Amino acid sequence: MTDDAVRFKQQAGIEAAALVESGMVVGLGTGSTAIFATRRVAERLHSGELCNIVAIATSHATDAAARELGIPMLTDDIPREIDITIDGADEVDPSLDLIKGGGGALLREKIVAQASRRQVIVVDESKLSPRLGTHWPLPVEVLEFGWRSQKRFLERLGAVVTPRKNNGDLYRTDQGNMILDSRFGPFIHDVPVLAQGLGARAGIIEHGLFIGIAQDLIVAGVSGVRHMRR
Ligand code: 5RP
Repeated sequence: MTDDAVRFKQQAGIEAAALVESGMVVGLGTGSTAIFATRRVAERLHSGELCNIVAIATSHATDAAARELGIPMLTDDIPREIDITIDGADEVDPSLDLIKGGGGALLREKIVAQASRRQVIVVDESKLSPRLGTHWPLPVEVLEFGWRSQKRFLERLGAVVTPRKNNGDLYRTDQGNMILDSRFGPFIHDVPVLAQGLGARAGIIEHGLFIGIAQDLIVAGVSGVRHMRR
């Protein structure tokens, strides 16, 4: 990652953290951009600028980082609606639809997003895409049982499918499932139809298409930080 990309991620994360208010339930996203928002929320909390917040993490990694930073965390449930969630994305199209799951956290990310009043996506400008699937394969979380059948299913839908690996071993999500990275190049022709097909398939736990979920997009790049709303 270039120094510029890191700086842009940081700028986007810091801008989003300013939207958190005292008393809120906050969803904390996963990845190298969302972590900047988490750190900034912690700084605001410790400086006294924010009080009485509680957060829920979208992955074990974010939960551990947030606890380390001293943010009060919910553990395994979402007892009331989340006021705001700040998360990253792998690709963002002009309608603010997304591909997520590059970090493998798509299931918890979608649960938290759907339980949130406001979903704020933070990205550097390299994530902007005219059509989803142009730059990034679609992560599909599948149960290990029968996974080759899901691979064939995805191939019949036109994807080139790569089981995600980690140091040579099959990658495992926080739930112990596998990820099939599915490249529908040159782009995904019909995002809602694909989402519906994947959602109806037993053994597919979740997919990384986030349609109509993001309300805000904060993008940082060479021309500064832009805030867009759906
Ligand atoms: C994790 C995600 C991340 O939000 C996405 O991969 C973006 O990560 P980064 O900010 O590191 O580029 O969906 O599952």
